[in-house]
Formats: sequence, C-alpha cells, structure tokens
Amino acid sequence: MEEIKITRAPTLKPKPDSSKLVFGKNMTDHMFIVDYDAGQGWHDPRIVPYGPLQIDPAAKVLHYAEEIFEGLKAYRTAQGKIQLFRPRDNIARLNNSAARLCLPQIPEELALAGITGLVKLERDWVPSEEGTSLYIRPFMIGLDAALGVHSSKHVQYIVVVCPVGAYYPEGLAPVKIYVEDEDVRAVKGGTGMAKTGGNYAASLRAGDRAEKQGYSQVLWLDGVHRKYIEEVGAMNVMFKVGGTILTPDLNGSVLDGITRRSCIQLLQDWGYEVEQRRISYEELFQAAGDGTLEEAWGTGTAAVVSPIGELAMGGKKVTVSHNQIGPVTQKLYDNLTGIQWGRLADPHHWVMPLD
Ligand code: PLP
Ligand code: COI
Repeated sequence: MEEIKITRAPTLKPKPDSSKLVFGKNMTDHMFIVDYDAGQGWHDPRIVPYGPLQIDPAAKVLHYAEEIFEGLKAYRTAQGKIQLFRPRDNIARLNNSAARLCLPQIPEELALAGITGLVKLERDWVPSEEGTSLYIRPFMIGLDAALGVHSSKHVQYIVVVCPVGAYYPEGLAPVKIYVEDEDVRAVKGGTGMAKTGGNYAASLRAGDRAEKQGYSQVLWLDGVHRKYIEEVGAMNVMFKVGGTILTPDLNGSVLDGITRRSCIQLLQDWGYEVEQRRISYEELFQAAGDGTLEEAWGTGTAAVVSPIGELAMGGKKVTVSHNQIGPVTQKLYDNLTGIQWGRLADPHHWVMPLD
C-alpha cells in the first residue's frame, strides 16, 4: 500500500465542550482522501486539512446520488487508550454498498488505514466524557463530470470525523416513533440494503412530518405490502414480545446493522430466543393491546441502543414499557457500551485497539 502523505493544518480549531456536543456538527482539523481512477486503481492516499471539496458542478454525485457511506466510532477507554468497534464489518458493508452502486471495491487495508491514520492524528479530539465518542464517517463519491447516467471512472474515498454525544437529544430516555403509512423507504431489488445517500433523501419528507408531530423518527413498513416492519431512519428495531426477541429479517431492503448483529449475539449469549422474521404492524399493535409487547428498542452506531417508549400510526398510539427503559434494553445498552468503552470483557473480539 502507498504511504499516506500527511499535510498538517496550519492552525488547530478549539475543541468543543464535550458536554454540549450536537451530533455531527464539530468536524476536526483534518480529513483523509484517496483517489480512484479506472485503469490506475486507488492512488495518492493523503491526510489534509479539513475543508471544502472542489467538485465539478457536473459531478455524478451531485446529480445522481452516486454516493455510499459508513458510520463507526472511536472510543476512549478509562486508561486513555483509543479503540474502534468492528471496523472491518463496516468496510465489508461499504464494499457491498459499492457493488450495488457500481462504485469500485476498496481494499480493506486501505479503507482501514484511512480511518486509523486519521483517528491517530486526531486523537486529542476523541472525548473522554461518559457517553461520548469520535464518530467516523467514511464515504465514497462518483466524480465524473458529465451528465450522462453512467457509473464514474473517477471516484474518491474520504473519511471525516467529529466528536459526538447522544444522537437523540433525549439521550437514553425513550423516543417516540411514528409508523409511516404513506411514504416507503426501500423495496427489494432497490438500494435499501446499501448505505447510500438516496435512501436518506427519500426519507426526509416522512421524517419532517413525524418531527412536526413530536416524533423522533419514523418506522418504515415494507414497500410492497405496506404491512411488515422494516427499520427506523437510522436504526434497526427489536421487540420483546412474550419473552421472545423479534426483529425483522434481512430481506434485501433493510440495512444489515452492525449494532443489530452485535445485539443478536449478546441476546443469544444470554439465552434469549431471537426470531428474525417478517413482523406485521398488526402483530405489533395486537401484542401491545394484549400486554405481551414488553419492550421495543432501536440499534445503531449513532443511536447505540435506544428505547422506544411510544409507537403511533394513523390515529392509534401505544405506550411501550410504561415509557420507561426496559430491563433487556438497559442490559443491552450497558453490555454493548461496556465492551465499546473497554469496561467489560470482549468475548467476541469486536474491539480493535488503536494503540
Ligand atoms: N438502519 C439504517 C437505515 C441506518 O442508517 C443505520 C445506521 O447506520 C442502521 C440501521 C444501524 O446500522 P449500524 O448498527 O451498523 O450502525
Ligand atoms: C450511524 O448510525 O452510523 C448512521 O449512519 C446513522 C446516520 C444516518 C445518522
């Protein structure tokens, strides 16, 4: 692999107060960039001062959303060391998204070197306050400057990072979720299983509508039957119904969440039965009605494990777990964050120490 060339920023920004971080707003001093050109492959990996990109106005990414991204975090342990959580899983998923979007595959070691090189340089930005971390956003964009609808031959993979606290202003308090019955996010054969900007653009209208009514995010239903639960805007979902854990299966339109994967493993370690299958909204509201819907939560890198306290759809509203965090949700949160911040043993070797 070519050596990463580092150009340091001439002046460094003041670090923000870690108790007042707004998700995704405080970008650090540097970023990683590597170019790809068909025929040449990946070249010129570099870390440069953080700043605006110069992009041709005809670049495909600006018109046809030729873009994919990832999200992972660097955590500071009580001993002051820094560690990543399952970064190779993110890179594998990035390459799956790349295959769907006709973007080039990036070698795992190059994608990872961009992340670790940048985080090491920005190590003073990794906050140490309880519940905070450095959010890492790798992304890939198609840059060919021509308006024909074709895949790009010139592409960049870029990594930016920012210190973050809780994703939801509520913190670990239960969030209210609206079951979206009008717009759909994805269909099988579409791009739902890829982490690509267009999916999120398509979600904005429903998200705005839900927010105006006091809901944090929407819960998407499948695009064909408009009946089966898929996922929340930035999280996969799980339900505890009559002692069993239910979560939608990966049917091609749901993102294969790394937090989802980790939670399923932990739940199985603890002896829970986890059913990955189709779950209709009727089944869910029925379970709420007969008192067997015991807990509901979302899982995601940004949101971690986030309790759901209320589900609403049309005129119907149900409260889950008395709008309190339930015991399984709390145990998952404690164990997952315990592993991520290095407070607990890591039996599945998910953590990658940086130093
Ligand atoms: N689903 C969607 C649509 C997301 O954007 C995310 C966030 O990355 C997730 C699920 C959770 O995935 P992960 O746990 O890998 O962060
Ligand atoms: C993440 O959890 O990393 C995400 O990508 C969610 C994001 C859409 C805010």
